[in-house]
Amino acid sequence: MAFTLRPAEPGDSAFITDMLVEAGDWGHTGATSPERVARILADVKAARYVTGWQRPGDIGVVAADEDGAPIGACWSRLFTPEEPAYGFVAADVPELAIGVVRPWRGKGIGRTLLRELLDRAHAAGHARISLGVDLDNPARRLYEAEGFITVDTRPTAVTMVRSL
Ligand SMILES: CC(C)(COP(=O)(O)OP(=O)(O)OC[C@H]1O[C@@H](n2cnc3c(N)ncnc32)[C@H](O)[C@@H]1OP(=O)(O)O)[C@@H](O)C(=O)NCCC(=O)NCCS
Repeated sequence: MAFTLRPAEPGDSAFITDMLVEAGDWGHTGATSPERVARILADVKAARYVTGWQRPGDIGVVAADEDGAPIGACWSRLFTPEEPAYGFVAADVPELAIGVVRPWRGKGIGRTLLRELLDRAHAAGHARISLGVDLDNPARRLYEAEGFITVDTRPTAVTMVRSL
């Protein structure tokens, strides 16, 4: 499966928002209806992953198919204690999110995107990176395999951190 990676740009806002919706809808097998999209984006804490993309400090990687169409993205941004997202650890620890379009999943794109994002966050001077993930999301296996450690467990979700 041929795909390429490129840095995310301000113009990727809509695609990154689509990938946020995929992350919010990970357990749903059917099509994501406009109502589901609206409900996911109405969650203020979730919307913070993409609002105003691309702000200073935002880091992102986009995977594209052979025609250059985006098929996945992994990105990170810094949050504040006052306005955190779902995997907040500290104001100097960026938090990442990731999504791959459905037909392209299970082909190594997510892992490749994640590793590239970790490299870029390290190159930007960050010592750690965090994320929030639902307890039963199989994406947890990817994060564990890539060195993320669970630092907080809630009833339905965990916060994970990786040293860079
Ligand atoms: C999570 C996600 C980005 C992984 O991308 P991907 O391209 O499918 O992942 P890869 O092909 O690189 O596989 C990496 C690992 O992901 C894990 N994994 C993720 N989702 C999985 C699923 N639905 N079923 C089985 N394994 C899954 C596996 O451990 C896999 O490793 P393995 O092949 O060695 O078993 C993608 O499945 C996705 O977009 N999911 C919906 C959005 C989401 O849940 N985002 C994370 C929110 S915290």
